[in-house]
Amino acid sequence: MDYFNYQQDGQLWAEDIALTDLAERYGTPLYVYSRATLERHWNAFDQAVANHPHLICYAVKANSNIGVLNVLARLGSGFDIVSQGELERVIAAGGDPAKVVFSGVGKTAAEMKRALELGIKCFNVESEPELERLNEVAGLLGKVAPVSLRINPDVDAKTHPYISTGLRDNKFGIVFDRAPEVYRLAQSLPNLKVTGMDCHIGSQLTDIEPFIDATDRLLALIDTLKAEGIEIEHLDVGGGLGVTYSDEQPPQPSDYATELLARLKDHPELELVFEPGRAIAANAGVMLTRIEYLKHTEHKNFAIVDAAMNDLIRPTLYQAWQDIVPVCPREGEKQTYDFVGPICETGDFIGKERTLCLEPGDLLAVRSAGAYGFVMASNYNTRTRAAEIMVDGQDAHVVRERETLEQLWQSEHLLPE
Ligand code: LLP
Repeated sequence: MDYFNYQQDGQLWAEDIALTDLAERYGTPLYVYSRATLERHWNAFDQAVANHPHLICYAVKANSNIGVLNVLARLGSGFDIVSQGELERVIAAGGDPAKVVFSGVGKTAAEMKRALELGIKCFNVESEPELERLNEVAGLLGKVAPVSLRINPDVDAKTHPYISTGLRDNKFGIVFDRAPEVYRLAQSLPNLKVTGMDCHIGSQLTDIEPFIDATDRLLALIDTLKAEGIEIEHLDVGGGLGVTYSDEQPPQPSDYATELLARLKDHPELELVFEPGRAIAANAGVMLTRIEYLKHTEHKNFAIVDAAMNDLIRPTLYQAWQDIVPVCPREGEKQTYDFVGPICETGDFIGKERTLCLEPGDLLAVRSAGAYGFVMASNYNTRTRAAEIMVDGQDAHVVRERETLEQLWQSEHLLPE
């Protein structure tokens, strides 16, 4: 559930503010987030596992605006990061480095050093050379690095063909069968301390089963390691819980947690770590865009809007479907439109074949844009990136100003005379 609703005036609001007001005040395209929705989604995870030791590490990549991170940091959230940049954002937002887990296959020595100096909770290590490098960097600093190994559980692709990151063939994690051997290596390196085990099997999963299959495999591995004297303190189940873009019915965090906790009966001390990104942020944001022109051709109708693939690339990149709704719906004859932007690419679209009653100048909201929206924006075609607004009840806070054109080339240089 989110706090973007049509009110009695027939218009779409964010919490207690009409989106038309925000568009007038700040211009379009505009990203608008709802603080109450972010908090509600985060709390849904936190409360779902309330009776078991746990940490919710929001996946910063989904939406890394420091205003968003600050809202979550105030709730006591941990963070899942994949770069030094994301780490510095967490710190700038008031996040606690002791609640940070560091994922990703390509951590540099400099990134490891900074994370060790700040004292993060854990490095989610994805290969043996990464273990060796981390051991070396920690040794130079006179520190001991807390380590979890990302295990690739190779969840059955036949029953769940849409899972793409938990299979043997991709770059992520350590192959399940080799896990004990790699744990032994980690245990033997003097500047590492094995503390955890993690996995992340994919994103936008709308079924619990693959998560549970993966957890079962990991719990068996934890028991095997224990018998060898390798103690795992936390199990990080990654992110991946899906959201409703159109009519998907993903499990609630409480459904997911119930199944997980049932499996953790014999592991009461094992801390559960979650890395949700999309489930927290996607439906806590919309992107506002205005119709510049309606163009009718013999074959198609186009709504040419002021947002483009540089603002929201998911439709172009993944053929992702996101709902497009009028902020002030009008009565009248509906027509079927493709929603396209001003960028000079055929692939520049926000949505295709949507049937609506529209006029030029109408304001539209692209729903579910809070995750993997602004963070994936670019300056292609020398377009400034949109402003970002955080709505909190009746208040609207600018959490990122609209870029200016001068900013776009301020680090560029002419050749000498
Ligand atoms: N943890 C790890 C290690 C990850 O790789 C990811 C996402 C997450 C957590 C968060 O997953 P989530 O809860 O958001 O599903 N740009 C794509 C999604 C890429 C996800 C990459 N990894 C999209 O727009 O659909």
